[in-house]
Amino acid sequence: GGGDEKPADDNKGGDDLISVGFSQLGAESGWRTANTESVKASLTEENGIELNFVDAQQKQENQIKALRDFIDQGVDVIAFSPVVETGWDEVLQEIKDADIPVVLVDRTVDTTVEDPYVTWIGADFKQEGTTAGEWVKANVPDAKIFELQGTLGSGAQVDREEGFDAVVGAENIVGKASGNFTRAEGKAAMEAALQAYPDMNLVFAHNDDMGLGAIEAITDAGKVPGKDIKIVTIDGVRDGLQALKDGKFNYVVECNPVFGDQIVDAIKKVHNGEDVPKETIVVDKAFDQTITQEEIDARLY
Ligand code: AHR
Repeated sequence: GGGDEKPADDNKGGDDLISVGFSQLGAESGWRTANTESVKASLTEENGIELNFVDAQQKQENQIKALRDFIDQGVDVIAFSPVVETGWDEVLQEIKDADIPVVLVDRTVDTTVEDPYVTWIGADFKQEGTTAGEWVKANVPDAKIFELQGTLGSGAQVDREEGFDAVVGAENIVGKASGNFTRAEGKAAMEAALQAYPDMNLVFAHNDDMGLGAIEAITDAGKVPGKDIKIVTIDGVRDGLQALKDGKFNYVVECNPVFGDQIVDAIKKVHNGEDVPKETIVVDKAFDQTITQEEIDARLY
């Protein structure tokens, strides 16, 4: 007797694996790359999961198509990170009608569908904006701020802006434009802003990548990033923290992308019908120019 008589399937895990359709919104930033790596490193067969990962390239229509494919495939659980907050009503209703539980990752949704997801894991974007605003208020009280917004209508843009703007006061904000969370679009938006708002002396970028694009635009314009124009960002990817250490960024609020293990945990509980909290907040820190090289080198992303 014993193990030898087990059907071959048992050894592979076979039917025991939880099939998960994961719709990632894109690969727009260093943060997103780190988040995708964390998801792929955690949602593995060794951890009991069969992963179907699809990248939507920052297009909502691609994401909706991926979600519909997951329904057709009859996956056990759908996980997704929505590129914007609205426009999901129909597909979320379809998922609900198919009885597939949803684990929402990173960004949030705004929908008329009741109980559209079982649990959400992500950062407190509003608090990140508040933390950034408090640094500006305390350190550059007379700031003339250009706000370099993330993808318009995304939870990360809407909430960071709300948190930040509530602290600094409207009279300090000279202009806003979106750089879609990418370095290239951040640079382009900053070039235009340098022309449009000559009195600007501080940029609040909704992520590091756009802040890094802003450094290029400021330097090209013959100004000194971190001095003539101060830069406050969110994320804390290695390139961003290096820019902070090098004096080009002035303050960085962390948004931690490495929470794949928490996603696995949630997926398993949801699949087994166990109780899960409606939301799990990933904890963030913040850094100023006193950051050391050792701290930067020890980062996971
Ligand atoms: O939703 C999280 C945000 O999305 C990160 O701050 C940003 O870098 C990413 O593009």
